[in-house]
Amino acid sequence: MATEYTFSAEELARIADIRRRYPTARAALMPVLWMAQEKFGWLSRGVIELVAQTLGLSPAEVYGVATFYTMYHTEAHGRYVLDLCTCLSCQVLGAEELLHYLEERLGVRDGQTTPDGLFTIRHTECLGACGSGPVLMLNNRRYVHRLSRERLDQLLEELRQGRIPEFESIPLPERHWENEEPS
Ligand code: FES
Repeated sequence: MATEYTFSAEELARIADIRRRYPTARAALMPVLWMAQEKFGWLSRGVIELVAQTLGLSPAEVYGVATFYTMYHTEAHGRYVLDLCTCLSCQVLGAEELLHYLEERLGVRDGQTTPDGLFTIRHTECLGACGSGPVLMLNNRRYVHRLSRERLDQLLEELRQGRIPEFESIPLPERHWENEEPS
């Protein structure tokens, strides 16, 4: 199947290396999809076909995996993707209200991209940092813990200027049962 997208010789060597670490091509799919997304920005139909062709899988198999996990983007998105957790722990700490605030600030709804192509906002499932919610994930990488309107304002302002702000990482609370006697 012809596709306008290609991997370089160096990238193909990396893929071969990844492939050797897994028993089947299907098992190697996720890291290769990640590589493709890093290179092309999102997983368009052409990129899905390229990955399928490279690993000897069907485009349907590749598409199925790409659409199952939220960290893969099968639609074009803004330069900054803001994933705001609205699961239970974050929700009771005000995540829904913060999502509405974000929508108001950017003039777009959940799932949409700003007309200048800078921001995409999405609500998302638990990000695994419930102890320091509400939590926002930036571009699949960085977490902003204990989100507030002020932090959102600062985040948007700095991103508009091309800077990624450093928010302190808040350690999870100590395990309360460590000093407890076994029952
Ligand atoms: Fe938000 Fe778990 S509920 S990180």
